[in-house]
Amino acid sequence: MLENCKILKNECIGESYNRVVFSAPGICPKVKPGQFVHVQIANLREKILRRPFSICDVGKKGELTVIYKVVGEGTAVLATLPAETECSIMGPQGIPFSIPAKNEIPVIVAGGYGSAATYILAKNSPVPGKILMGARTSADLLLTDEFRKTGFEVLLATEDGSAGEKGYVTKLLETIIANPPSGNIRYYGCGPHGMLMSMGKMLVQNGLDGELSIDHLMCCGIGACYACVVKVKDETRIDGWRYARTCKEGPVFSAKNIFHD
Ligand SMILES: Cc1cc2nc3c(=O)[nH]c(=O)nc-3n(C[C@H](O)[C@H](O)[C@H](O)COP(=O)(O)OP(=O)(O)OC[C@H]3O[C@@H](n4cnc5c(N)ncnc54)[C@H](O)[C@@H]3O)c2cc1C
Ligand code: FES
Repeated sequence: MLENCKILKNECIGESYNRVVFSAPGICPKVKPGQFVHVQIANLREKILRRPFSICDVGKKGELTVIYKVVGEGTAVLATLPAETECSIMGPQGIPFSIPAKNEIPVIVAGGYGSAATYILAKNSPVPGKILMGARTSADLLLTDEFRKTGFEVLLATEDGSAGEKGYVTKLLETIIANPPSGNIRYYGCGPHGMLMSMGKMLVQNGLDGELSIDHLMCCGIGACYACVVKVKDETRIDGWRYARTCKEGPVFSAKNIFHD
């Protein structure tokens, strides 16, 4: 659906990220973890091109939270918008993560803003699990306390060693795969492309599967333009693969179904 949403709050959090809260009472009740909103940023020159953002959280009164990093013109303009500014929001879009069953332990691997995108999954999980959170440096780690409050165990990795294990977050995943907690584990991933590809490869090589949220450049966000395709396995095709639109058939894909480049 399309909704004109007023900004309730738009603020810096830490050194690298901003948090914007929209009033979106129409969209919020429909949101499932892993979905995104396609936001038309007010005051942007090419306003017509929306920008996709994962939904971090929704509140009972229709508050929709997005955490974003300024990387280009759209996000730079978004960061300047004061409360009361109205933006047109399309959503919720995309295939969500599945909610873990009561007998499953969720293990989430999150890099960068992947923590924001999976926070709502942790909040909705019937059983707390583990989040393996990675970032370049400790200042880029997001929502660690909020995850702890959901009961999740938070394990950290930073590339510069300023918090947790030094190195990539996939090192933590390697340890979990080698010594898994007892029970049925459901793996989830959200983060930079390289992290997801390496996570997917690791799962599949160990005979496991997982749900990976693939973040791709998008244009229409509704499956019409094919700007956002990734190669997925498809045994019904002669060559065994086809292109899938991440905005409509994703962003969440099974690790077994994608090619890990
Ligand atoms: C499903 C989905 C969920 C997302 N969720 C979030 C989120 O929760 N928080 C957040 O900060 N960002 C998120 N993104 C990325 C966000 O959409 C882009 O950062 C934003 O569109 C950049 O807009 P811009 O005009 O500022 O930058 P542009 O000028 O459009 O681009 C600036 C730079 O960022 C790169 N870039 C743009 N979009 C992407 C992308 N999708 N993936 C990788 N690089 C990109 C461009 O190649 C360029 O180098 C998400 C993207 C997708 C597809
Ligand atoms: S962005 Fe147009 S089809 Fe996905």
